[in-house]
Amino acid sequence: MRKWNFCAGPAVISEHVLAEVKEELLEWGDSGMSIMEMSHRSSIYDEVATTAKQDFIDLLNIPDSHDVLFLQGGATQQFATVPMNFGHIKKKADYVLSGTWSKKAISEASKILEVNTIASSEDKNFSYAPDPKNWNLSEESAYVHYCPNETIQGVAIHDVPDLEKPLVADMSSVILSEPMDVSKFSLIYAGAQKNIGPAGLTMVIAEKSFMEADNPDLPNILRYSKHAESDSMLNTPPTFGWYMAGKVFKWIKKSGGLEFFKEQNHTKAQTLYTYIDNSSFYSNPVNIENRSIMNIPFILADKNLDSVFLKECEEEGLLNLKGHRSVGGMRASIYNAMPVEGVNQLVDFMKVFEAKHG
Ligand SMILES: Cc1ncc(COP(=O)(O)O)c(C=O)c1O
Repeated sequence: MRKWNFCAGPAVISEHVLAEVKEELLEWGDSGMSIMEMSHRSSIYDEVATTAKQDFIDLLNIPDSHDVLFLQGGATQQFATVPMNFGHIKKKADYVLSGTWSKKAISEASKILEVNTIASSEDKNFSYAPDPKNWNLSEESAYVHYCPNETIQGVAIHDVPDLEKPLVADMSSVILSEPMDVSKFSLIYAGAQKNIGPAGLTMVIAEKSFMEADNPDLPNILRYSKHAESDSMLNTPPTFGWYMAGKVFKWIKKSGGLEFFKEQNHTKAQTLYTYIDNSSFYSNPVNIENRSIMNIPFILADKNLDSVFLKECEEEGLLNLKGHRSVGGMRASIYNAMPVEGVNQLVDFMKVFEAKHG
């Protein structure tokens, strides 16, 4: 029996998608084989791949100035490939430090170029996000990097900053949660395992003119422009993940697109935040304007109850609510595929638990 999965990633995938995949698993269409066993250069696979790419472009309204890549290596590899590709000219880049993931991005980039940390919220344990108005941009830097949604701290920078410099964003835990203006970014990357599909696929959206200026001295496998030239088939792509991402994109389209999910995601987040804020038993440490819509951390008034809470959650079919080991407490990740009903059941359980132990 499937239960409510609040994992931060790999995360819940729509049951409709999983049922379709199950249906097609042994044989895709009348091809005589599963999609996993098929050459990525076959015409059947080509159609699957092209359709998925187009649906992604449609969903995010990606302009012609940008291209979409289906890569591997996760967001972590992007922490390295971004500075390797774009740091070779100015050799300096601006980074915003707003949580664990941007910290890792900074640490990796520092091995390759000079990082200027233009804003940080580490002083208050990442319980807020540095306001873009106060980012102290360098005069000379190759790009500005930030993480709009810090998955571990549940901290978000909701407004896209208007900067004169190329903007690069790690959107691993927020992509496809609502419409956005892709044209404001030179490069966006996201691991698939939250809002897109299974782990193993990494999405990149990059401005073509930006990609063309990548570092020619790098091996091809590390160059964005080479992946773009070969339609993400420079080598064997993660074919199953790409196929499943395509299913998720269709499901998002059929459900009403990103406008639908924006509304649903805000409703879910509001339900949880409102309950937490009105309770003296649970609390959320994040500055109200910077609260994530996707990942909601919360702590119990009595830390000694953490393990009881988690155990009882599991008994109720509410899984993976333990906060990240670096911050403790609880965290509910409520990506697109988490229905309103799942969040309502979590809140109902929290009420009962509070009544019993509060
Ligand atoms: C915002 C963010 N960036 C980067 C990562 C690392 O992603 P990966 O494991 O795909 O390298 C994660 C993973 O949870 C994340 O949430």
